[in-house]
Amino acid sequence: MAAALTFTTSVDGIDQASLAGGFFDGWGSPPSLDEHVALLRGSSHVALALDDDRVVGFANALSDGILSAYIPLLEVLPPYRRQGTGSKLVRMLLDQVGELYMVDVMCNDDVLPFYEALGFQRAGGAVRRDYRRRSAHSASDA
Ligand SMILES: CC(C)(COP(=O)(O)OP(=O)(O)OC[C@H]1O[C@@H](n2cnc3c(N)ncnc32)[C@H](O)[C@@H]1OP(=O)(O)O)[C@@H](O)C(=O)NCCC(=O)NCCS
Repeated sequence: MAAALTFTTSVDGIDQASLAGGFFDGWGSPPSLDEHVALLRGSSHVALALDDDRVVGFANALSDGILSAYIPLLEVLPPYRRQGTGSKLVRMLLDQVGELYMVDVMCNDDVLPFYEALGFQRAGGAVRRDYRRRSAHSASDA
């Protein structure tokens, strides 16, 4: 069993090596480690779970600070799942974005119960994806 995780909302000291645990599992063309560092730095809010100095879970949010925020990415490395880590990361983001009118996330149906337990509700949506530049699990996935 791993040691207790620590959690942070800061990207200070987070580099390629910290993120090398295998995120973007199953993506056809995942972001590079450089891009992973950059997307965290470019987010308005982040939440990270660390096992020593290794990131084992991350989530980011993009917020306008007035009305709305979007949570584009959330992932916990498989050995660390079903221990409350993903829920804690989302709660950390919700705390950071504050009391906004809307906080949105796009997810596959199988993950809906996870978000519903955190106060989100099922909704319709539309997405635009450029699969020539980047592919996630499949063309039907977010
Ligand atoms: C979704 C994910 C972040 C959840 O992380 P986690 O650390 O396992 O989440 P938690 O331990 O906080 O889960 C809390 C509860 O949510 C539910 N839950 C968690 N993962 C779930 C999943 N994949 N499907 C359905 N329900 C899920 C369970 O009820 C769980 O409670 P339980 O373990 O007591 O049954 C993780 O499975 C993951 O990284 N998946 C791959 C990437 C992904 O799908 N990200 C979401 C993109 S929108």
